[in-house]
Amino acid sequence: MHERESKAGRAGRAGLSVFITGGSRGLGLEIARVHARRGDRVALLARRRDVLEAAARTLDADAGRVAIFAVDVRDEAAVREAVAAFARQAGPIDRVYANAGVIESAPASAPFDRGVFEINFYGVVNVVEGWLATAPPAAATIAIISSFSAFRGLPHVPAYGSSKAAVALYAESLRGRLRAAGLHVTTLFLGYLDSELTSSRKRSFLVTPCAQAARVVVGAADRGVSRAAYPPLVRAMVFAMRCLPDAIYDRLVARRYRNAAS
Ligand SMILES: NC(=O)c1ccc[n+]([C@@H]2O[C@H](COP(=O)([O-])OP(=O)(O)OC[C@H]3O[C@@H](n4cnc5c(N)ncnc54)[C@H](OP(=O)(O)O)[C@@H]3O)[C@@H](O)[C@H]2O)c1
Repeated sequence: MHERESKAGRAGRAGLSVFITGGSRGLGLEIARVHARRGDRVALLARRRDVLEAAARTLDADAGRVAIFAVDVRDEAAVREAVAAFARQAGPIDRVYANAGVIESAPASAPFDRGVFEINFYGVVNVVEGWLATAPPAAATIAIISSFSAFRGLPHVPAYGSSKAAVALYAESLRGRLRAAGLHVTTLFLGYLDSELTSSRKRSFLVTPCAQAARVVVGAADRGVSRAAYPPLVRAMVFAMRCLPDAIYDRLVARRYRNAAS
């Protein structure tokens, strides 16, 4: 049994209360599946109610243990209300996954897509602030999903990469702020997943199944580690890319993304 589960148990509550943004598909739904199988109470938040309902039906849990919230993470008041409603239903929220995210679909020549930043950055801030307003229990954890795209700029996804870099720095700031309250912040840097987000992109051996990544994400949050990066091969490649001088990196990405930039 994990440390935080023991604490929740000592408080006389069976299982954790877990709130997941972007829980209707992809990584978020697989995170929900891990928790549902443990018997935790799970809340899924995303925009489309029909997709949320279908997602909830796929979880191995009693219907009463899965709550859904059809809310846009950009809507600060609605996010706050959803988090508060779940805390009223299920008790203090032990775990949040700030996971909802989008990526540019337009070519690199298109104007900067502020909508991506609004969702990937301010959407995270909204759920963090909403959760903190519910007075989370000691030893609770918020897991914030960033990406390896946070480490070096890519010409075709400037809003995505910068939003993921910003959210990682935000998570680090938050860690310092919440430490005294006994709350944990875990930042996840992930590589390509087999989800809708990247479905238009080329398949390769570097793509990780969402179910596999979800187990890593939940494990990192269970341990309350400050950061985790997955998979190891991509972590090594990104580390190598970070060491490259700008002139070489720029030539490499220019060649790789010549078509996207045209
Ligand atoms: N896929 C990758 O290769 C990859 C790599 C590294 C990191 N990540 C990160 O992993 C996280 C999950 O991505 P994924 O691959 O699972 O994506 P996905 O399959 O496209 O799922 C995204 C989820 O976010 C929800 N969502 C999107 N915009 C929202 C909004 N404005 N308000 C509320 N919910 C919203 C979606 O539901 P609705 O559209 O119905 O709202 C859906 O549930 C993201 O933060 C992503 O950046 C992904």
